[in-house]
Amino acid sequence: MPDSTYSTLQSERIQTWLAQLTLTQKIRLLVGRGQFIPGVMETEEPEKVPGAAGSTNEIPDLGIPSLVLADGPAGVRIDPTRPDSEETFYCTAFPVATLLAATWDTALVAEVGRTYGAEAKEYGVDVVLGPGMNIHRNPLAGRNFEYYSEDPYLSGYIAAAMVRGVQSQGVGTAIKHFVANNSETNRSLLDTIVGERTLREIYLRGFEIAVKEAAPWTIMSAYNKVNGTYASESPEILETILRQEWGYEGLVMSDWFGGKDPVAKLTAGNDLLMPGVPEERDVIKSAVEEQHLPMAVLNRNVERFLGVVVQSPVYQQYAYNNQPDLLKHAKVARKAAGEGIVLLKNESNALPITNPKATIAAYGVGSYEFIAGGSGSGDVNSAYTVSLVEGLGAANLAIDTDLRNSYEAYIKRERAKLPEKQFFLELDQLVPEMPLTLENVAVKVAETDLALITLGRSSGETEDRRLEGDFNINPIERSLIETVSEVYRAAGKPVIVVLNIGNVVELASWREAVDAIVLAWQGGQEAGHALTDVLTGQLNPSGKLPTTFPLRYEDVPGADTFPGREIPNGATHQLGGVVLNKEAEITYTEGVFMGYRHYLTKQLPVAYPFGFGLSYTTFFYEELTLSKTEFTHELEVAVTVKNTGTVAGKEVVQVYLSAPAPSMQKPIRELKAFAKTKLLPPGAGERLYFRLQPKDLASFAVKQSAWIVEAGIYKVQIGASCTDIRLEATFSAPELLVEKCNQVLQPSKTQ
Ligand code: BGC
Repeated sequence: MPDSTYSTLQSERIQTWLAQLTLTQKIRLLVGRGQFIPGVMETEEPEKVPGAAGSTNEIPDLGIPSLVLADGPAGVRIDPTRPDSEETFYCTAFPVATLLAATWDTALVAEVGRTYGAEAKEYGVDVVLGPGMNIHRNPLAGRNFEYYSEDPYLSGYIAAAMVRGVQSQGVGTAIKHFVANNSETNRSLLDTIVGERTLREIYLRGFEIAVKEAAPWTIMSAYNKVNGTYASESPEILETILRQEWGYEGLVMSDWFGGKDPVAKLTAGNDLLMPGVPEERDVIKSAVEEQHLPMAVLNRNVERFLGVVVQSPVYQQYAYNNQPDLLKHAKVARKAAGEGIVLLKNESNALPITNPKATIAAYGVGSYEFIAGGSGSGDVNSAYTVSLVEGLGAANLAIDTDLRNSYEAYIKRERAKLPEKQFFLELDQLVPEMPLTLENVAVKVAETDLALITLGRSSGETEDRRLEGDFNINPIERSLIETVSEVYRAAGKPVIVVLNIGNVVELASWREAVDAIVLAWQGGQEAGHALTDVLTGQLNPSGKLPTTFPLRYEDVPGADTFPGREIPNGATHQLGGVVLNKEAEITYTEGVFMGYRHYLTKQLPVAYPFGFGLSYTTFFYEELTLSKTEFTHELEVAVTVKNTGTVAGKEVVQVYLSAPAPSMQKPIRELKAFAKTKLLPPGAGERLYFRLQPKDLASFAVKQSAWIVEAGIYKVQIGASCTDIRLEATFSAPELLVEKCNQVLQPSKTQ
């Protein structure tokens, strides 16, 4: 947190408190108040905001209030009802993080952040536990939907926009999970083995951008170990890199029950232990008394904690009213949901649906039970989710009623067979796809003008996704696509697939059977309206992929080793006799060559590349200029984009850099900047400007422990995706030592 965020008065207040607090009180502040987990853990006092993930202890005598911390990346997660109240406390389910990244629109994400922050504040929340910004390393990672991208630049700048937006309302954020938390399996006992260059260029880089650009009030450390040490117990990560090198001045909190040793955490610079377990206090007290934990360290942690307190709504005595403007917030959710939809395929003019009298056959359980977001701490208790058919209905489009009735009856029957969810961490159970015969579909084709098929996926915390039936579509879904395709295509009627998913699925094996594919992601509570806007052409799709869709899972780098190897006879993590996690390790053997960096360098074809997305119009790129031909300390890139089609649209423009590689291996090209045009009417153009700084040219040289620009010719490549480079220009750069770093994070084992 930059100094400027504290007033002199606030700094004085903190120093006065520090002088007054007793050891016991200091420790109380650094260990949270616990979390209500039915049958497992009670909180010492009733929760101020029921359903919030946690809160901190207060010291009433000194006027230090309790802070309320609530999840999560897609909106405030609190209980929607309270036993002692008639009121409801529903929150806005914004689109999931991956969709927000697919907008490539930092101004829009900041607007979502402002709206989200305002809502959190009205519900009495001081810090929201998001955004999540781990890298999409593998499509099976269960929490990818909570994260932005496979690319650190996109992740970093989208996260920064979100943080700025939320914090503009005087509510804190917690960027998470710091760092290299890229899977869920065995998450509390997983050792991520990763080289320093890879960490710095890929896994740390996004966090670095968010920290430097937006100064989040707090950061949440990750569950996993990095090269043998828990992230929450690593002074190299939390002090050397985060504070000394990046200049971070805020607070670090642990993930819930994360890490092992409370004293090691506090010493490492993990200032706040969440949700807080009473025994942790005794351990800390003994450590101070036995002089294993210096008072200076404890005071440092307390000071950082108080730095958040003085900025918090509760300390500022903000009188929240529990009545945020949910109608206004829903509009923002709808707008964002539409802007992140990615049109993957559109042939034979299947889209947009221009005939207002068209009757639509809506196939797939997902068309009726639309998925707003994933489960676990990334879930939001919203009042409703607009399904696809509800969205179409609201736009006065006719849906085939027989089909609707059969699906709704089937869903009712099948849902009744599924167990009720008892605890928020349980995965959401989806109703299995309804089997349909050729005869069923043949009856419908005569009565309808086009077929929409929705495929839905849900995933969440604690588990990674399965390959079969999740990443790969299951046999009933395949048969549904094939049957509908056969019948409708024979009748000359289009088949459109809607993907209601949180992250990547396989689609290369079935895409030829359909005319259009619309990637709607999990668009939050307004998803059905936003999707309808795109289907009908009210909104021209402008989202682009923040993550590659490979042809097959096997093409993903490190696919065969995901999600890690369990250590024979290793430690276990148990709860009530149930083994939750086993000791395990995963090695990031692909190094910096992950995501599109891998596919490009290996020249592997993919289904849809990073940065890809179609529009109902076309764009022409021209007049690429560089401010210099020789790089010194900064270079300006400018390019003009023109709408050459017949409808208004927005274009996401990507700036890649292809660096010379005289001594280090480098990806073919890497994203270094991006922008989205404003809505361009047909014929209109916009000139976009970007700035390249020395670090954008640099790679991390492990031997020198430094970010180095290697001398040579650099290519600026302006792309509509990472494989669709429209313009290119070159400049030369001398060798530059951009930043000398500390030698840290050496892998304990060879990679
Ligand atoms: C998750 C965090 C979350 C916390 C509080 C943990 O299980 O990993 O992302 O903020 O719970 O709910």
